[in-house]
Amino acid sequence: MPSRALLAALVAIGALLAAIIQITPDKRTEVLPTPNISQKEAVGTAGYSARFHAPADEVWSKVVDFPSYHKWSSSLKVDFQGYPLKVGSVGTLVTTKPGKAPEENRVEIIIIDHQARILAWRAILPVSASLLLVERVQQVAELSDPPGWCEYRSWDSWKGPLGYLMQWTVKKVIKEGIRTWGDQELTKYINSVVA
Ligand SMILES: *[C@@H]1O[C@H](CO)[C@@H](O)[C@H](O)[C@H]1NC(C)=O
Repeated sequence: MPSRALLAALVAIGALLAAIIQITPDKRTEVLPTPNISQKEAVGTAGYSARFHAPADEVWSKVVDFPSYHKWSSSLKVDFQGYPLKVGSVGTLVTTKPGKAPEENRVEIIIIDHQARILAWRAILPVSASLLLVERVQQVAELSDPPGWCEYRSWDSWKGPLGYLMQWTVKKVIKEGIRTWGDQELTKYINSVVA
């Protein structure tokens, strides 16, 4: 039997964690829905967007051309077994940060729509989706103003009891990863090929 003091300490730690966790979900206006995560259910979102003076279809074709990523990105590799991509395709994201060992995450495609230029996947996690569901949506939308421009958007949202842990562990990491890739690599690459 654990001692009363130990139990009391655990209860105190639990209460402290609960207090921290309570205040950490993102504001409803800051979360974005994904196919299986409504705005109401989402615990958090980490996202990125960029505008390009280029046709939306051209930007889209670069974003989903995973086999060519190695030519312009050193921070992200996306490997799928077979192409063309379809719902149910399983792939691996290999994220590399300077001075750190590469990190691998497995994902499964849940939406791929080349007309609407939407790609969505869910993370394949070692816990059940009722405890934690993480989904990423990537989209390229044509802008009417200014004409000739489009916007690339990418966001991860998560839900479930373990989603609260993500708020103060991996949220910042995801955000920084998406930004490093987006600002420093995708933007440079798109601007170099459409210029
Ligand atoms: C999530 O949404 C997609 C597309 O709307 C669907 O195919 C899939 O079965 C849903 N459920 C899970 C758990 O991924």
